[in-house]
Amino acid sequence: MKLKSLFITTLMLAFASTAMAAPIVIKFSHVVAVNTPKGQAAEYFKKLAEERTKGKVKVEVYPNSQLYKDKEEMEALQMGAVQMLAPSLAKFAPLGVKEFEVFDLPFIFDDYKELHKVTQGPLGRKLLNKLEPKGILGLAYWDNGFKVMSANKPLKATADFKGQKLRIQSSKVLDAQMRSVGAIPQVMAFSEVYQALQTGVVDGTENPPSNLYTQKMHEVQKYVTLSNHGYLGYAVLVNKKFWNGLPADIRGQLESAMVDATKYANDVAKKDNDEALAAVKKSGKSQFIALTPQERAAWKKAMDKTHKDNMGRIGADIVNEVYKETGYNPN
Ligand code: LMR
Repeated sequence: MKLKSLFITTLMLAFASTAMAAPIVIKFSHVVAVNTPKGQAAEYFKKLAEERTKGKVKVEVYPNSQLYKDKEEMEALQMGAVQMLAPSLAKFAPLGVKEFEVFDLPFIFDDYKELHKVTQGPLGRKLLNKLEPKGILGLAYWDNGFKVMSANKPLKATADFKGQKLRIQSSKVLDAQMRSVGAIPQVMAFSEVYQALQTGVVDGTENPPSNLYTQKMHEVQKYVTLSNHGYLGYAVLVNKKFWNGLPADIRGQLESAMVDATKYANDVAKKDNDEALAAVKKSGKSQFIALTPQERAAWKKAMDKTHKDNMGRIGADIVNEVYKETGYNPN
């Protein structure tokens, strides 16, 4: 009798501990506002992941550099302090994976359609695989959009860039792009850009409209040039040890949530950027500058040097593969 009750108690305890097992927590850190393509997609992933795993996984999203800034979040991922990030493709060289800077080459993609040939094709996968030796898995690409250039003087002719201190992400290709037109690039964490613009530490910057608007950069920039001269987007990264250590059924549910969140991210990106641009315009805080086809061609011609000068850094094979997909032509 005693033995039987002991057995029942043990069973009940085992049952209770399974039923009450603490959820697996995924900390997802990012640097932008919630109402951006990345911010919304992270929230959508959280919703789907928690639903599909029936609460066995809890996703904690930390937006706006709340938890970590650009450089720190990469380190935190590698150390396992966070499990998921979606950094800009311009921020991978400090990890030792310079190939992603191909996405920063000016004018390399004319539109999302060309970009998707790379991000949704075998080359995109090949690039993500390069992260594995760093202890990181690349799950997906999430779109943001095409960049505008902002400053307190109108940037129209390439000569207008001369001596302008412009904030960039930590990419040598972006550094070369800015130097090719005579600007002085300055690497800075995203979280510090608004203040740096406000106080005049830098004169201007480049970003897709959604980032410009949600960080209120337009309130401290007199001019926005609608140049679409380059692309900014993300790769969703997870800590490899964490991901591979998940029970297979849960990993499968999370992968399916990621597929749907990726579709969502890429569906909202263009719309969000169009709306952000309209909101900046409506605010009347900064004046829009449209480039004539000749002016835009002059930017492209001057910035093309960036491509040749960075072939060695990125890898000529990668650059040429992208050219093949997009039909990039310097003229
Ligand atoms: C930037 O630093 O400008 C962007 O990478 C921020 C972001 O994550 O979109």
